[in-house]
Amino acid sequence: MASYSYISPQISHNFIIFILILTSLRLLTSIQSKSCSNPSSSKLIISGNSTIYSENRTFALGFFHTNDESKWYLGIWYVSIPTPTYVWVANRETPLRSRDSSSLEIDGGKLTVKDNLDSRCDVVWESVDANFDSEGDVKLLEDGDLVVMDARGVAVWRSFDFPADTFLPGMNLTVGQTLTCWKSSNDPAPGKYSLRLRPPDYGEVELLFDEKRTYWTSGNWTGNIFSGVPEMTIPYIYRFYFTNPFTETATFGFIETMPQQKPLTRFNIDSSGQIRQYTWSPQTISWNMFWSRPENPCRVYGLCGNLGFCNAKLTVNRCKCFDGFQPVDGAGWDAGDFSGGCVRDSDKNCRNDKFEAIGEVTFDQEKVESSSSSRSDCERKCLNNCSCIALSHNPNTNSCKNYFGEILNLGNSSSDLGIIHDPLNIRVPRGVTGKKIGSKTVILIITISCFVAISSIAIIGFVILRKNTITRKKLEEESVFPVTNLKVFTYKELHAATNGFSEQLGHGGFGAVFSGTVDSALVAVKRLERPGGGEKEFRAEVCTIGNIQHVNLVRLRGFCSEESHRLLVYDYMPNGPLSVYLKSGGRNLDWDARFRIAIGIARGIAYLHEECRNCIIHCDIKPENILLDQDYSAKVSDFGLAKLIGRDFSRVLATMRGTWGYVAPEWISGVAITTKADVYSYGMTLLELLGGRRNVEGPPDGGDGGASNEKWFFPPWAARRITEGDVAAVVDERLGGEYNMEEVVRVGLVAVWCIQDEEVARPTMGMVVKMLEGVVVVEIPPPPKLLQALVSGESFRGVGGHSQNNTFTGVSNESKDSQFAV
Ligand SMILES: *[C@@H]1O[C@H](CO)[C@@H](O)[C@H](O)[C@H]1NC(C)=O
Ligand SMILES: *[C@@H]1O[C@H](CO)[C@@H](O)[C@H](O)[C@H]1NC(C)=O
Ligand SMILES: *[C@@H]1O[C@H](CO)[C@@H](O)[C@H](O)[C@H]1NC(C)=O
Ligand SMILES: *[C@@H]1O[C@H](CO)[C@@H](O)[C@H](O)[C@H]1NC(C)=O
Ligand SMILES: *[C@@H]1O[C@H](CO)[C@@H](O)[C@H](O)[C@H]1NC(C)=O
Ligand SMILES: *[C@@H]1O[C@H](CO)[C@@H](O)[C@H](O)[C@H]1NC(C)=O
Repeated sequence: MASYSYISPQISHNFIIFILILTSLRLLTSIQSKSCSNPSSSKLIISGNSTIYSENRTFALGFFHTNDESKWYLGIWYVSIPTPTYVWVANRETPLRSRDSSSLEIDGGKLTVKDNLDSRCDVVWESVDANFDSEGDVKLLEDGDLVVMDARGVAVWRSFDFPADTFLPGMNLTVGQTLTCWKSSNDPAPGKYSLRLRPPDYGEVELLFDEKRTYWTSGNWTGNIFSGVPEMTIPYIYRFYFTNPFTETATFGFIETMPQQKPLTRFNIDSSGQIRQYTWSPQTISWNMFWSRPENPCRVYGLCGNLGFCNAKLTVNRCKCFDGFQPVDGAGWDAGDFSGGCVRDSDKNCRNDKFEAIGEVTFDQEKVESSSSSRSDCERKCLNNCSCIALSHNPNTNSCKNYFGEILNLGNSSSDLGIIHDPLNIRVPRGVTGKKIGSKTVILIITISCFVAISSIAIIGFVILRKNTITRKKLEEESVFPVTNLKVFTYKELHAATNGFSEQLGHGGFGAVFSGTVDSALVAVKRLERPGGGEKEFRAEVCTIGNIQHVNLVRLRGFCSEESHRLLVYDYMPNGPLSVYLKSGGRNLDWDARFRIAIGIARGIAYLHEECRNCIIHCDIKPENILLDQDYSAKVSDFGLAKLIGRDFSRVLATMRGTWGYVAPEWISGVAITTKADVYSYGMTLLELLGGRRNVEGPPDGGDGGASNEKWFFPPWAARRITEGDVAAVVDERLGGEYNMEEVVRVGLVAVWCIQDEEVARPTMGMVVKMLEGVVVVEIPPPPKLLQALVSGESFRGVGGHSQNNTFTGVSNESKDSQFAV
């Protein structure tokens, strides 16, 4: 007994330790096997750098990161394009720490994303419980849908039912589903803006801020479109459907109607709160945005945050803080996320404040204290409470409003953003002098410029000389073509030549144009707004443009490319753009001038298309880009710029009818653009020249289109008259009947040939010249169907599907290999 009792503690002690070790080992292994690899209940789908491709390699599923290599996500992206574009993300809020240790598994009846770094085996994302058996299969379909199928091949879960921020063809939006934007362009975590079917009726789509505040609706479904989105009547390549609208089973979606040339297309809820549609352009190797809502980006609720002032006219740095304020989140602000808003610069002490009037503005505000008092009492009351941030006072009614908390959606009252209040006065520290928005930046820029100027002066002329020589030498080395005819200007020279950019001639799609004098000759200096691409590309393109010379093209004299400055110097055209002559009250042109202009434009474009070394597609033919010299000869301007700058479709296609003004239907489809796109725009321009009017009357309204008042769209009506033989009805009344009937008929018929839906039906530009000159007989074209569909307001189906047989007789084959050089 004694010995037993003596030994026992030893044994039991060891035994306990042994057991302990064993248990903890078991525990460890069981944890490990449970979440990392338990072959009996889980099935590995992908891990690390492996991916799953859709059948024809349109989409891939795998792990990706954005700008931060320590944050990885499971997502689906387009394989065939160089721009990373993620259409779906699983673990939006919980990034994985490394790719190598990441896996996607079927585990416990769920699709599971695991982070296995340091054997911690965290589950960072799992799908809803759909009882997948591990026998199930995971497949990525050609339309971008990730599908889990059970052993019988029945889909039990699909990513299309759990959308992220992207709506793809074939996807359905149903009751209870939302698309939510990324927090910023680099952070897939859900942001503040989302899209859903609008409760309680589910007859329309809405955009929401913070899941509760509607800032855009599509309008109710009318049977084939949403009432506020009339452009849906142009289903050139898409067909929208809305089954069971106004019920709990409502389902909205769209499909492509041209499966044979399927462009990549997607709707996206942008982190700036707009819904946008993009198609991929293989020509420009970029996504073209051609539709967005709300049209006015400042209508996005809370875009600029507290006290941020929104300017819709700006494309970058749209939000500004008032003087005396600065962005709360400077980094976010720089990255285009303005939602943090503005905060007072320095002092937290609010005692020594005053008020700055910022004028007529619109804004949204929830906490307001109204009273009836004099202005000074109104100010005193606000000053007494540090959380009062602004006031408005109406001296006529003595009504005083003190505002607390946040002021959102500040915008210029002239921009039609919503409620206009009495002029707003913002509380600022007493030391603040200016009241101008962003004046601080201006001062900063001036300071920097002065500093730069002074330091430049300090630099010896030798350095400058040397630099100039180097630049010129570099240019000559880089350019393929001789550049003897192009002058390289310094920014300073052009600044002086234009009198400090004081006389603005106009503002085109690529930037403002100023008049100036170079070598005692008048010039037009175009200051490019968005200098895309690098210096080298710019110079190469400019040299190409500079080598193109034709009597009907505006001559490029020189350019400036210095730091961020990109300027082009052109011959000055004293009689301005053609658009000036196309207003009912504007200047008139007699028929002879018009006819010469029509032929002149055609010759200019034909030269670009067919005769110069690299075929150039202009991409932006419209009356604003046709300039008239002292003899009223037409000169095409802005050619070659589309490639230089890239093309922002949001403006061109601002309104559907504006869109349809000049842009050929194939632009929208994202299919290869040929010279026939210019032919289309030329046809539209010709109709305007004939009618002496704009195709869309009235300027596009700046506000949110919605159900905007009907504007009369001229081309469909004109096309019908012309094809019915009644050209006289179309001709400008200002001509008073003084015109050559034969020429008028020719111009009318050519215009309608040019705006045919199908590219092959449109003549080449060279043929257009011949037709106008009367060298070939012009037959009567069919009326363009897409345009007619627009007028009748009916959904127009199947145009893309089958092509028409009405090809212009006399057009040989498609023009020679037109290498795309926009
Ligand atoms: C994937 O990773 C493995 C090892 O981790 C490496 O050998 C292989 O080259 C990688 N494959 C690709 C396509 O990066
Ligand atoms: C993949 O491409 C082939 C050949 O073009 C086509 O026949 C097939 O239908 C495509 N598959 C899918 C899923 O689209
Ligand atoms: C979308 O809805 C249509 C019509 O209700 C249906 O035929 C189709 O299968 C649905 N697609 C998906 C991916 O759920
Ligand atoms: C849509 O219809 C519902 C009733 O079905 C109506 O309450 C709502 O105001 C309509 N929306 C618009 C934008 O007309
Ligand atoms: C300031 O105003 C806010 C909002 O009306 C109120 O809640 C707070 O009590 C006031 N503070 C002082 C010190 O009066
Ligand atoms: C609003 O716009 C008008 C006209 O464009 C301008 O004169 C005014 O200064 C603007 N107001 C503010 C606060 O920016």
